[in-house]
Amino acid sequence: MTARAKQNIVVLTGAGISKESGLDTFRDADGIWSKVRIEDVATPEAFARDPVAVHEFYNARRASLASGEVHPNAAHIALAKLEAEWPGDVLIVTQNIDNLHEQGGSRNVLHMHGELLKIECQICGEISNWLDDLSATMACGHCQARGGLRPHVVWFGEMPLGMDRIYAALDGCRLFLSIGTSGNVYPAAGFVARAGKAHTAELNLEPSEGATFFVESCYGPATKVVTAYVEKVLAKGW
Ligand code: APR
Repeated sequence: MTARAKQNIVVLTGAGISKESGLDTFRDADGIWSKVRIEDVATPEAFARDPVAVHEFYNARRASLASGEVHPNAAHIALAKLEAEWPGDVLIVTQNIDNLHEQGGSRNVLHMHGELLKIECQICGEISNWLDDLSATMACGHCQARGGLRPHVVWFGEMPLGMDRIYAALDGCRLFLSIGTSGNVYPAAGFVARAGKAHTAELNLEPSEGATFFVESCYGPATKVVTAYVEKVLAKGW
């Protein structure tokens, strides 16, 4: 194993990386949170109060993703190339609930905010793949109980997934990249501070809330800046 082979990379991604695939971001002017309120669709309280409205919100997004018409873009594909060709470990920690990293060929992907194409039974805990609409009355395929199925997504006020693995990877990485995220939502917004031994770079359309915490920054659309940055890293590191 060469010295280079020991250098692990952690990549945090957010909605901005999927924008050029046609998926809306959250906090841009035309973003999802300009059309619906977080309190109405993305909290456990909203789901308890009005499961039909919450299911409608996720059903529409699931239908769009499952239609086969949303494809990974050059940035997703560049990160898959980085994972395939870099001699150390490359872990993608994504806040996105779409599956575009996987469609683009990435294999080491951790969905800290869950996955849109999965559902979870709140009664038996079973998590299953799901491409169709979900309703408040459907029965769980595992325990058969009705009324307990929910999207396998992490709502505001809930604990993100995989935090132990994420912090271990951040502690051991030598390059931390933050791509297409506004830096508004913790714990993801704090990862740059945790990656203390790493070179840190922000690749985003514009400076994020946490821009000053990064050593390096490249601003522009992800399809351009991520592909260029990956080529640079594969050619000569950082
Ligand atoms: N290329 C790169 N960056 C882009 C592009 C693009 N083509 N288009 C937009 N961006 C940037 C925006 O400038 C913004 O900084 O992507 C960022 C998107 O920020 P948000 O909409 O806040 O999305 P994100 O950071 O992923 O949100 C975090 O908030 O609501 C929750 O659970 C949701 O996972 C989400 C979390």
